[in-house]
Amino acid sequence: MRMYDIIEKKRDGLTLSEEEIRYFIQGYTEGSIPDYQVSALLMAIYFEGMNQTELAYLTKAMVDSGDTIDLSAIDGIKVDKHSTGGVGDTTTLILAPLVASIGVPVAKMSGRGLGHTGGTLDKLEAIPGFHIEISRDEFIELVNRNKVAVIGQTGNLTPADKKIYSLRDVTATVNSIPLIASSIMSKKIAAGSDAIVLDVKTGQGAFMKQVSEAEELAKAMVAIGKKTSRKTIAVISDMNQPLGYAVGNALEVKEAIETLQGKGPKDLTELCLTLGSHMVVLSGVIENEAEAKAKLEENLHNGKAFETFKLFLEAQGGNAEVADKPERLPQAKYKIDIPAKKSGTVAKIITDDIGTIAMTLGAGRQTKEDEIDLAVGIVLHKKIGDSVKVGEPLVTIHTNNQDISAIKPKVYECIMISDDQVTPPQLIHNIIS
Ligand code: URA
Ligand code: CA
Repeated sequence: MRMYDIIEKKRDGLTLSEEEIRYFIQGYTEGSIPDYQVSALLMAIYFEGMNQTELAYLTKAMVDSGDTIDLSAIDGIKVDKHSTGGVGDTTTLILAPLVASIGVPVAKMSGRGLGHTGGTLDKLEAIPGFHIEISRDEFIELVNRNKVAVIGQTGNLTPADKKIYSLRDVTATVNSIPLIASSIMSKKIAAGSDAIVLDVKTGQGAFMKQVSEAEELAKAMVAIGKKTSRKTIAVISDMNQPLGYAVGNALEVKEAIETLQGKGPKDLTELCLTLGSHMVVLSGVIENEAEAKAKLEENLHNGKAFETFKLFLEAQGGNAEVADKPERLPQAKYKIDIPAKKSGTVAKIITDDIGTIAMTLGAGRQTKEDEIDLAVGIVLHKKIGDSVKVGEPLVTIHTNNQDISAIKPKVYECIMISDDQVTPPQLIHNIIS
């Protein structure tokens, strides 16, 4: 087999065989096929796409490029959740204890991401003492006992994806549905999940700006799930404004705690109940989605979800008292309100710029080596459709640097106030199953 022929075939719009796909994934992972040939193939895939059969072969080849996690020692169907990425997205922190509180096993593997804020791991480390350096055996034992545990990324999972993702980044081939779908699904499958709930974000602050693009990505991933015997369902959710009010690590932990106590923001709560009910149904613990949702909602209000969260923190060395006293979470030195310059209705929030402001404050990493400041971030006071009076705080900046003169004008540019009535965006656009 020659890489040249594989490139030519895809360039001409033909379908690649399983052997051809395996050949290039293996060869690229081992280093016997050079970057320039894989770059050309990626560009051909970008233009010609892949059918569902090719997609499943590509995903499986990427899974087989490295280690896979065996979670079979954990009782029950392991359901994982993945979000394509948004601003202020705290759902994992809430969903893990929430669905565990009704008996769904959550065996979460988590890494440190780049982005506007840290990942779930960074957020959890805002809890004093909490650690994810536990052995594989301890991890399994904890999930079997408490139904929820988080472990740091171990093993060499999907090395093909790591190499291909870096190459896509510099060859203008990131934005390709087959490449995104196989990248995400290969990582979920390698991490050992039996079933997958995908939260595909759409809107100004998301990768997929249009609902139709998000649906196309969702359909590709659900099809991969079907062909690899992983029950998969995708929720298309709105990212035209940050989820909840808080954007920042400790700030989002506090928001998650409030949500687990049934006092969270409406949109964040609703999204967690929707994603959670699909996780519960896929796990087989409750058959009917409406029933699952009602049960989850009950556990937000009767203290069970919150108790499960505390149990989970303590089991991994965390000081669970912090959950009762969130003022003990890392606090920024300065909390500076930014007042509205005019009265009206919030019409638009430039969500990705809000994320960039949080990152500038120190909440996120630009490179893997960056240290993040768990305390800093932005708390919104108004969301789209809310009325606001001149002088009322629009946002509060949590910062360790008193000088926010460079940040203030950016905040005003991010939040548009209109004289007209504005309807808030719909939160759930579609469900693909
Ligand atoms: N997230 C991923 O994991 N992979 C992609 O290709 C895009 C987003
Ligand atoms: Ca939030």
